[in-house]
This record gives sequence, C-alpha cells and structure tokens, in this order.
Amino acid sequence: MALTLSGKAALVTGAAQGLGRGFAEILLQHGAKVALLDVNETAGSELKARFDEQYGADSTLFLPCDVSSEEQLTDAFAKTFERFGRLDIVCNNAGIGNENDWEKTVAINLNAVIRGTYLALQYMRKENRGHGGVIVNVASMAGLGPMLTNPVYTGTKHGVVGFSRALADASQVCNYGVRINILCPGFVNTDLLQSLTPNVHLEDSDKLKEEYKNLIGVLGMMEVQEVAAGFLELVRDESRNGAVLKVNKRSGTSFHTFS
Ligand SMILES: NC(=O)c1ccc[n+]([C@@H]2O[C@H](COP(=O)([O-])OP(=O)(O)OC[C@H]3O[C@@H](n4cnc5c(N)ncnc54)[C@H](O)[C@@H]3O)[C@@H](O)[C@H]2O)c1
Repeated sequence: MALTLSGKAALVTGAAQGLGRGFAEILLQHGAKVALLDVNETAGSELKARFDEQYGADSTLFLPCDVSSEEQLTDAFAKTFERFGRLDIVCNNAGIGNENDWEKTVAINLNAVIRGTYLALQYMRKENRGHGGVIVNVASMAGLGPMLTNPVYTGTKHGVVGFSRALADASQVCNYGVRINILCPGFVNTDLLQSLTPNVHLEDSDKLKEEYKNLIGVLGMMEVQEVAAGFLELVRDESRNGAVLKVNKRSGTSFHTFS
C-alpha cells in the first residue's frame, strides 16, 4: 500500500538547501505540508518565500533551528505540531562532513538524529494518541562501508544505520504504528561535498585524495532529484520498516540486505 501524502504534515531538518530541500519539495509536490528546519536563516527564509509562491503560504513553515541544540529541536517539533495539528513524516537529514571539528560532526550527524527520532516517536506513536507515521533517517553509503577520507563521518553514518534499524524492530514489536527507514545515498552534487576539507588527523592526504576520487569514479555523482525519488519511496511504501535504501548513480537504487 502507498501512503497518501495529501493532508499529511512533515518535518525536514537541514531543509534550506541540498538534499533536504529536495526532500521537502517532493513532499510538497505530493500534497503534504512541511516544516523546514535549518540553521541557515537566510537560505531558509528565501526558500520559504519561493515555496510560498509555488505551493501557497500555508503549506510550509520555516523554523530556524540548530539541530544539535536540545532546546531548539524540541521547540521546533512543538511549533510544527501546533501549526499543523499533526505530524506524520519526519526526515532527520541535517548533516555535515567536518572531520576536524569531529565533536560537532557527531553532535549533528548522530546525536541530533537520535533526538529527532525520539521526538518524532513522541508525536506519532499511536498509544500517545498520534496517527502513526514514518521517519526517514539520512545516512550515506558511508553508513554501510568505510570512506577512508572521513572516518568520523563514516562512524556517525554507521551509527544512524544501527540506531534506526534497532528502533524500527522495536517499533514493530511494540506496535508503535511508526515505520523507521534509512536512506543511504552515494555522492550527490551539493555544498556538503564542496565543504570537505583535508583531515588534519590523517597523514599522506594525497593518497587519500586519490582514494576519494576513485570512490567517486566507482559510485558516480548524482543530482538531488535522483535521490529525492528514493526518499519518496521510503516514505510511501507502507510495507517498508527498517529498510535501508541505497541510491547510487552507477548501480541505481536497491535495498541493502544484511546477513
Ligand atoms: N552530498 C552527498 O554526497 C551526500 C551523500 C550521502 C549522504 N548525504 C547526507 O545528506 C544530508 C544532507 O546533506 P547535503 O549533501 O544536502 O548537504 P548540504 O550542505 O547541501 O545541506 C545541509 C543542510 O543542513 C543544514 N545544517 C547544517 N548543520 C545544521 C544544524 N546544526 N542544524 C540545522 N541544520 C543544519 C545546512 O545549513 C544545510 O542547509 C547529510 O546528512 C549528509 O550527510 C550527503
């Protein structure tokens, strides 16, 4: 069965640009209302203005929010629920690739995903008088195998995969009525890739740069829209819980199987 998005309310973190913006837009195109959370207020406000013209002012809400702040993230969930009166879809997408300030990377890529998932469950669980729903946590191909240049990023994304799968099983056993799925894209043409800086903790960065280039050669480089289609599938396919969807330029879209 495919979930109907019309009349549903969604929350997307890191929505001002890149993949988050693409995920927000595909939800809007299918009739959902979307809360756009981002730490970048300028980009978020500009996007909200553009979406107002295309989808109507009532369809979105921009909430400035640093997902690594417990207070700001909790407040943003509360404001979203207050405005839309329900919450059906949450995408924990915000992420960075800063290997040098690795504590910040762990705080945004893993800790905030955990907090965002628990907050989502609080609003969506059926026994909490929610309507049930779906959470999509954004990991990466680096959540399934090593990215040599980015060991901390790799660690956080493996964490997202493991945490989300465990909770998906718990949700099924305890009948929360909430599906939790994981998206693992390969390389996507966004600012995140441009912002990657040499890792000061690693030596011989030339060898690693070579590895990085080889990996892009193997996996290929995608545009946001190609990944947004995979995201929509994870949201809509009601038979999927704990699913890990890999999206790559060269090998296409497929579900990962664990032995
Ligand atoms: N680009 C890729 O190749 C790629 C591949 C696989 C997975 N991903 C993942 O996709 C997600 C989105 O990345 P992207 O490529 O679109 O990057 P991006 O840099 O284009 O967008 C990230 C967005 O997150 C926001 N953000 C950053 N820190 C934040 C914080 N503390 N609180 C709230 N918002 C914050 C940024 O302002 C930005 O709008 C990340 O989780 C990333 O790890 C990206």
